[in-house]
Amino acid sequence: MRNGCFITFEGSDGCGKSTQAKLLAEYLTSMDYEVVLTREPGGTPLAENIRQVILTPTAETLHPMTEILLYAASRAQHVEELIKPALAAGKVVICDRFIDSSLAYQGYGLGRDLQMVSEINLAAVGAVLPDLTIVIDITVEEALERAISRSGQIQDRIESRDLQFHQRVRQGFLELAKDNPRMKVLEASGKSIEQIHSEVINQVQPVISSNKANF
Ligand code: TMP
Repeated sequence: MRNGCFITFEGSDGCGKSTQAKLLAEYLTSMDYEVVLTREPGGTPLAENIRQVILTPTAETLHPMTEILLYAASRAQHVEELIKPALAAGKVVICDRFIDSSLAYQGYGLGRDLQMVSEINLAAVGAVLPDLTIVIDITVEEALERAISRSGQIQDRIESRDLQFHQRVRQGFLELAKDNPRMKVLEASGKSIEQIHSEVINQVQPVISSNKANF
């Protein structure tokens, strides 16, 4: 049985979602919630190994179907091993990326059949879907600039894809959010980290309160 609250952050590479996920975790911890901050791909030792396989550039091409399945495999492991038990224990789970990243990157970005990507991922997560998903939206140019300055250069094989790919990913997140009430888009271009953090809290508060009976 699910008791806790599951919040995910989504957005393009360099949009600032990891910073926001961390700030939210600190804020909720200071409010005495038990918080688990985690990320995808990864989140458990085995899933982090899968992350290395996906993101480390190699001479061998990572084929789209392999990529889809590796993200889904990492996700299935993460859900069973970490997310489900934490929710059952009444914790707030904050995850930096989840199922919507596969739809946006592998579906919209790579142009793979959305229905197929969705079905594989729904099988991977079972009934575990977020209560709230915050999409941090900034222009692709701004996001990539930040991603480059963060790492010194664009290094992993996903970030090194072309500008059009990242435009499709951004549009993908916006399209997904249109049809999905659990997804809230925060317009972040030109805003400070603190400003975005307070907008995040405004979105999170009602969701946490409506789940309160479970804590
Ligand atoms: P990160 O930099 O936010 O940790 O994410 C690593 C990369 O993995 C990022 O470029 C987005 C990509 N990704 C996908 O393409 N599909 C997915 O399902 C997930 C979780 C991440």
